[in-house]
Amino acid sequence: MEKMWAGRFSKELDKVADDFNSSLKFDCKMYKQDIEGSMAHAAMLGAKGIIPKSDSELIVDTLGEILSDIESGKISFSSGGEDIHMFVEQELTLRLGDTGKKLHTARSRNDQVAVDIRLFLRDETDEIKALVLSLINAIKTKAKENTDAIMPGYTHLQRAQPITFAHHLLSYAFMLTRDFERLSDAQGRMNLSPLGCCALAGTTYDTDRLMTAEKLGFDGIVLNSVDGVSDRDFCVELLGAYSILMMHLSRLSEEIILWSSWEFKFVELDDSFTTGSSIMPQKKNPDMAELIRGKTGRVYGDLITLLTVLKGLPLAYNKDMQEDKEAIFDAIETVKMCLKVASPMIETMTVLKDNMYKAAQNGFINATDLADYLVKKGMPFRSAYKTVGQIVACCIESKTVLDELPIEKYKEFSPLFESDLYGEISLEACVNKRISQGGTGQKSVNEQIKFIEDFLNK
Ligand code: ARG
Repeated sequence: MEKMWAGRFSKELDKVADDFNSSLKFDCKMYKQDIEGSMAHAAMLGAKGIIPKSDSELIVDTLGEILSDIESGKISFSSGGEDIHMFVEQELTLRLGDTGKKLHTARSRNDQVAVDIRLFLRDETDEIKALVLSLINAIKTKAKENTDAIMPGYTHLQRAQPITFAHHLLSYAFMLTRDFERLSDAQGRMNLSPLGCCALAGTTYDTDRLMTAEKLGFDGIVLNSVDGVSDRDFCVELLGAYSILMMHLSRLSEEIILWSSWEFKFVELDDSFTTGSSIMPQKKNPDMAELIRGKTGRVYGDLITLLTVLKGLPLAYNKDMQEDKEAIFDAIETVKMCLKVASPMIETMTVLKDNMYKAAQNGFINATDLADYLVKKGMPFRSAYKTVGQIVACCIESKTVLDELPIEKYKEFSPLFESDLYGEISLEACVNKRISQGGTGQKSVNEQIKFIEDFLNK
């Protein structure tokens, strides 16, 4: 097919160069947004008398037909074209002749592509946000079922202090609320229309950018036309937000992988979210969680790709920027798939409360509480800390635990010890005495659940 710019050239584009240059194979994803943008533009051209009203109406109607023909599969992208913008315009011109050729008045592909990506990302981000909410809900529901499940809380992956599984899981729900907000914030900053910036300098026609912005659901317009066609910071910002989200999913996945191992056995993943081995008959592998963890790298890679593409680009548009799409599309697909699998994986996961409890019984995770016991009896914390350290060493030596060391032995370390200490260091007491806000105590955990529920109902 003859190129639109053929007038200026005496030779056809080389075949290899043509394939290299073409983005249709991936930017066809934005056909809907491209057509919506063109419809708004054509309607504005008609309303402002830049082209005859009848032409503008015909263009809008025909664009609508092209949209449904693409959706019904009547036309496919195999007919070729440099990119989705050229493809739609060629199709329009095929159908309308000279009238179709009027669409590109007062517009450039540079502002067109900028509009398309913004519209596309706005829709996709809405979808991702809905998936984040479902995951928060799945986590919250699991947490609510496990407010009494005591497990070891860890630091350095060493048993530290007892907490409830609900408390532990809820921490992820809170992280995800911030991911949700980051996505909303990015959407808010992004929702300005670059349409009408044209190639870079604006146009000599008396266009109405606010009209097209409003038709397309933007909150306003990008005020500097060079900025409008040059920057992709909104893509970078979203990729940043997706990366942080994936980092959270990856940490959660890592824990699920650990918890499913025989070494922990805190949870059992449902058969429908695990796989077997081709050789080892006993295996049940947490592949979904591993893939989420693995795919996190792709999303980070997409972020770095785009940052690197943009770094050092002179203003305004450069063809390098065509490279934004595959990175952002890949990140979106990856994030969506990961979220879609994470929610049901968690919903169907069985929590093995007894194993968690058993793990919490070893490892001296009530040592801080024993120190607090002495503090309440009047000993300064540092001294209590030291005394308990010596008691722990003694227990390790005589292969016992704090709960089973006889009171006579305790008294050798401090006369402040009495037999009420055992009640104070039981796992239940350790959890329920943690009354500070945000802590693992029941009241605090209930407040946290309420916060998440309110967030979900907003
Ligand atoms: N396919 C191009 C892109 O994605 C569209 C813009 C082309 N503009 C141009 N002046 N060549 O960036």
